Amino acid sequence: MARTLCQNNDGFRDLNVLAGSLGLGGIPKSWHASWPNSLHACPQANPSFLKPGYVDRINIWLHLSKDAYSTLAKAVSRIAKRSDLRLLAWHCHRLMFEEAIPEDFYSWPMPDAAMGELSPVFYAVALLPEVPKLAAKHGKRGIPAEVTVNTLKDIDLWLCNYKEKHGRKGLVELGWFSNHFAEKLYRLGRLQYEPQAFGGRIKVFRRISDGALTVFSEGGIRFSPDGEVDGTNGVFNPNAWESVFEQNKKTVRGNPIPGSGRASHEVIEIAAEEWALVLSAGDAILNIHIPADGKMDYTLCLESFSKALEFFPMYRPDVQFKGFACHSWLLDPDLGRLLPADSNIVRFQREFYLYPVLGDDSQMFERVFGGKPADLSGAPGETLLQRVIINHLAGGGRMRTGAGFILPSL
Ligand SMILES: CC(C)(COP(=O)(O)OP(=O)(O)OC[C@H]1O[C@@H](n2cnc3c(N)ncnc32)[C@H](O)[C@@H]1OP(=O)(O)O)[C@@H](O)C(=O)NCCC(=O)NCCS
Repeated sequence: MARTLCQNNDGFRDLNVLAGSLGLGGIPKSWHASWPNSLHACPQANPSFLKPGYVDRINIWLHLSKDAYSTLAKAVSRIAKRSDLRLLAWHCHRLMFEEAIPEDFYSWPMPDAAMGELSPVFYAVALLPEVPKLAAKHGKRGIPAEVTVNTLKDIDLWLCNYKEKHGRKGLVELGWFSNHFAEKLYRLGRLQYEPQAFGGRIKVFRRISDGALTVFSEGGIRFSPDGEVDGTNGVFNPNAWESVFEQNKKTVRGNPIPGSGRASHEVIEIAAEEWALVLSAGDAILNIHIPADGKMDYTLCLESFSKALEFFPMYRPDVQFKGFACHSWLLDPDLGRLLPADSNIVRFQREFYLYPVLGDDSQMFERVFGGKPADLSGAPGETLLQRVIINHLAGGGRMRTGAGFILPSL
């Protein structure tokens, strides 16, 4: 009778022994609770994702670049050769996809001693069994294979992103990929869409007669005198003011956000019977993400919006949404005046109604400079964006995350 993965690894039934064998510094808390379940659920033979040729088979959906393909194939073969690595890969896969993904996954140790230079892709291997499962789920819904391939292309993009920073392939965005595999994210053309509850602390009203919008801040939010959320970039202004919002049968009264991405201190009032509330926190929306996959051609973005408007009613009629939302460094209102009007970032930004959110410049530094430079004068100024940002910051300006929404049906 075939021995199971666990029977082959009797010596490692104790997680401490396994961690010791792999030279892991510590054991994340989350690994303990479901360890007995993982042992209990061990397959009859080595899992198929650790068999030779597996990466090749699933590459019909992954479309890995040459380098990423050979790194993952080598990692699979290295894991398959060691029983301690095999068992850990099995356990981590189960933790991510059969239990609720643990909160401590960001701090899971890399098995450096056992994996060597392939260590940063260890957890990527633990994602692989989900690839055919996702393709099957998409197939059942009739979702075109092109969408599956596009959605999964993110794996290759993040493997490349890691290499740009660390010089070798790796993948640490395990929480992010739990979205793809749980069908909580689809890439449609240039952009990705994640059905979510709208998180903006705003109230959007539409005038019934002509469709004009008035956007109010929720009440009780502190804004700096220039209309940013107080505390942006960790800066608190002594002259900050607090927003008000009141609604009764006759009137709606509050601090408007005129679309410039800043809140206005001046309180205005509109007649309740003439306006309808069309978007507020908690409403269903499609959150947009922009994968780092070359330029963000404006026409492709518009095409992608249209695709999303067709895709969800056709393939995911259970997903209701009032519009699109985005929360990103790309929606920093200052970019709208620092970059030329015909740049892709500005054209993308102008599709959105902008509003201020609490945030900072860390995502911008990460995406534009690969991290916050210790000394701004030494930061790379190879692209126009880098140069205008360096100038802006050197002149005392600041950058931040911004947010916006699009209500396509209005
Ligand atoms: C979003 C993205 C595709 C926009 O790039 P784009 O289509 O080239 O944008 P634009 O046309 O507006 O670019 C204007 C200028 O800024 C430069 N630029 C744009 N994004 C840049 C970036 N992330 N880093 C450095 N320079 C950048 C362009 O190269 C161009 O300068 P150039 O004329 O000297 O070449 C790009 O920033 C990117 O890939 N970012 C990573 C993904 C991301 O940030 N997603 C959002 C996460 S919330």
